[in-house]
Amino acid sequence: MSVASNGYQSGFGNEFATEALPGTLPVGRNSPQRVAHGLYAEQLSGTAFTAPRSENRRSWLYRIRPAAMHGRFEPIQQPRLHSAFGDGPVTPDQLRWNPMPMPGAATDFVDGLFTMAGNGSPAGQHGIGVHVYAANRDMEGRYFYDADGELLILPQEGRLHIATEMGVLEVEPQEIAVIPRGVRFSVALPDGQARGYVCENFGALLKLPDLGPIGSNGLANPRDFLAPNAAYEDREGDFELVAKFQGHLWRADIGHSPLDVVAWHGNYAPYKYDLRRFNTIGSISYDHPDPSIFLVLHSPSDTPGTSNLDFVIFPPRWLVAQDTFRPPWFHRNIASEFMGLIHGVYDAKADGFSPGGASLHNSMTGHGPDAATFEKASAADLSRPDVIEGTMAFMFESRAVIRPTGQALEAPHRQRDYQACWAGLRKHFAPPA
Ligand SMILES: [Fe+2]
Repeated sequence: MSVASNGYQSGFGNEFATEALPGTLPVGRNSPQRVAHGLYAEQLSGTAFTAPRSENRRSWLYRIRPAAMHGRFEPIQQPRLHSAFGDGPVTPDQLRWNPMPMPGAATDFVDGLFTMAGNGSPAGQHGIGVHVYAANRDMEGRYFYDADGELLILPQEGRLHIATEMGVLEVEPQEIAVIPRGVRFSVALPDGQARGYVCENFGALLKLPDLGPIGSNGLANPRDFLAPNAAYEDREGDFELVAKFQGHLWRADIGHSPLDVVAWHGNYAPYKYDLRRFNTIGSISYDHPDPSIFLVLHSPSDTPGTSNLDFVIFPPRWLVAQDTFRPPWFHRNIASEFMGLIHGVYDAKADGFSPGGASLHNSMTGHGPDAATFEKASAADLSRPDVIEGTMAFMFESRAVIRPTGQALEAPHRQRDYQACWAGLRKHFAPPA
């Protein structure tokens, strides 16, 4: 990769302004008759032109060549990545997977994507695609964009060097990257191989939640979100532009790097966030709040308070609640929950849920701590606080059922005995004689 990291700008959805060459950004207008340094001006809109000002996202890009310049698109096959979630029967079983195996053959980020589950559709502009990736090769001369949704990327193993049109994001496990719909990018693997999770959001753009009685600080703080400074490639060659468009992949020849934006301004941009900066809030009396207290970002639906996607994490924290079952409780939920583990151990499962693994508990399917965790927590000494350290689990929660794909159900790494983790729950019921 020839794009060097050029630093970051802090804030969430701010009006950023950045230029890799001084004097590039026009002053007082977006598209002057002639842009400095012989560049082209181009607007990239991530919301409807007429979206309310508080929701409106767009950026102006000043680039060597406009995005329109490339060859004709033709379909290509990467059948592991798709948006066909079907409408047939879907099992209400609890599902769990071991980590996706690393590929044997040379595989880049795009070819390494494997669709696990999803709902809604790109055409409907609602729902999510849930993917994992396992890759061992840089995208060389290959650039990708997703017209179907924004990409929330969670590395689990191996760093990612994500060179985008608007600058570079360097992310490592326990950080996330968000690539907006349409933004072109290329992924290199500084550690030689990488594995992680991707949530593809077909719905409204991810945003920070309102905080209500929590007040003006807490959970994920806006200043910890980082958008890249402008960085550009000025190079020609026989390159490839790959698009995900309406659930399918397409490719076109392109004779230059599309990462040629010398300066940009606006509020539609890639960003990164370090999950370790999350301000975790919980009970200091009894019980523990609903997991919505761990909400990092969400994609609202058209029903207030009911998300297309809630991105929730379970970070290190203290457990101090008295006369309380401290791990996550048994529950059933109208929403559907896809979980993954970035690092360490998840406190509701004694074993079987490994970093890189995944679980899926769909609407109204009962789940909760396994038998070993229940017995241990029921007997725990509550006179002392517990600290959960060295862990980072997450959840993609959606209002609609998250439908597992055929390839996920058939994968050799699916745990076909997952339900056995609850089989050992003993009957404790002892009514008075
Ligand atoms: Fe749950």
